[in-house]
Amino acid sequence: MESSIQETDFLVLGSGIAGLYYALHVADHGRVTIITKRDPAESSTRYAQGGIASVLDHERDSFESHVEDTLRVGAGLCKQEIVRLTVEEGPRHIRRLIELGVEFTRQPGDQAALDLGREGGHSHRRVVHATDFTGQEVERALLAAVARHPNCQLLDHHLAVDLLTTAAYGLPNACFGAYVLDARSGGVMTLLSRVVFLATGGAGKVYLYTSNPDVATGDGIAMAYRAGAAVANMEFYQFHPTLLYHPHAKSFLISEALRGEGGILRLPDGTDFMKGVHELGSLAPRDVVARTIDAELKRTGADCVYLDMTALPKELAPRRFPNIHEKCLALGIDMREQPIPVVPGAHYCCGGVVVDAQGRTTLRNLSAAGEVSCTGLHGACRLASNSLLEALVFAARAAAADLAAEPVRPATVRPWSSGNAVNSDEAVVVSQNWDEVRRAMWNYVGIVRSEKRLDRARRRIELIREEIREYYWNFLITSDLCELRNIALVAHLIIDSARRRKESR
Ligand code: SIN
Repeated sequence: MESSIQETDFLVLGSGIAGLYYALHVADHGRVTIITKRDPAESSTRYAQGGIASVLDHERDSFESHVEDTLRVGAGLCKQEIVRLTVEEGPRHIRRLIELGVEFTRQPGDQAALDLGREGGHSHRRVVHATDFTGQEVERALLAAVARHPNCQLLDHHLAVDLLTTAAYGLPNACFGAYVLDARSGGVMTLLSRVVFLATGGAGKVYLYTSNPDVATGDGIAMAYRAGAAVANMEFYQFHPTLLYHPHAKSFLISEALRGEGGILRLPDGTDFMKGVHELGSLAPRDVVARTIDAELKRTGADCVYLDMTALPKELAPRRFPNIHEKCLALGIDMREQPIPVVPGAHYCCGGVVVDAQGRTTLRNLSAAGEVSCTGLHGACRLASNSLLEALVFAARAAAADLAAEPVRPATVRPWSSGNAVNSDEAVVVSQNWDEVRRAMWNYVGIVRSEKRLDRARRRIELIREEIREYYWNFLITSDLCELRNIALVAHLIIDSARRRKESR
């Protein structure tokens, strides 16, 4: 089967906050095609509960304090200049979101003032939010703005398979588009573009337990790596301490903002186990909390720990956390009366495709922002609610840089060809390998790692990758197969980076 060749000016992969914000910045300058794997709103952004960290209360807070908090949590591996520019440019982008129609929560009794929340590792209240539906609200407003722009076209249920690179034609390497699979028809389009912007989000599905939605399969990281772009810090996978522990609560996050309002973590016997571990107690940075919970679960043999909100005013849950409160109630847990059972899970990829201060990767005409990228803001561990902030700042910067990009393309482009590949009648191979990757990563490359476990994981993942390679070349591709190929490569990169870094951060 041969594919059609089509053309656009700006190809955006991903429809979360970074992709949509970038699209709005370049849309006045050319045709923008946004590719997204499922429904347009289905992205990690949509599930962000906490909010966006930014210094808006200059009387009580300061840029200096936000910079210091970010550097401290990043454990010495943040790039100072990137932290500073991100923090200082933040307020401007919050104002822009408001202009675009995002409705952030205001202070009770003062509609002019934004309500600022607090989360782990922050010294001040500085998290702008829309109750606990922040990501959903941002996504709604940005999608509406993109839909209004005549130059933006959004292709849902489409997935980029691989980037088009000039190196494949024996030329100095540059990106000039992507092969794009229509998940519904199975057809693959060869989509040429002046520049490609990666906004594909993270890779939480590489672990068995994660707060991430099903779309988080590390596609952008895997594609960029295959295309020759530099990838860094992949060993720093951040685990969120509090995912709801319930058989019917797949991936549901219990926001750190609950601890910001005074929630206390307890063992099943009621002990406040974070007291004495860190000066901030239950509000310690999330890596400290996740590691302590992991150690307590192993020590006590308990299935979960508990987040206790029962001492707080009863009106707080429905007013400040309507989403989490409703979800818990539906599962028979009334957080006003009983503690919430929680466990840690994979949450955020602190590493990714290396970009400079303009969001440019090391591959010419490929830029990136958001969780797929590694800007140097997060270091070894990300400060809560710094991620949406980073996505805004770097999407805008990448857009400005990409307007000046010089397109490069070979004289003749080879369209996608399926060769002799046939339909596979063995979908079980994909689901089996999918499960094996995620289980091996959880058991051997989880919160606490050892060299022996990393070696075990490496051997298993390499075997699986061998099998996937064979499968990929012999059968017609599907989105499941592409995602499996990507997640197995991301697993390889995490293990490889973890084996290289000997010290623990
Ligand atoms: C949360 O609401 O706990 C998540 C916030 C974040 O990951 O930044």
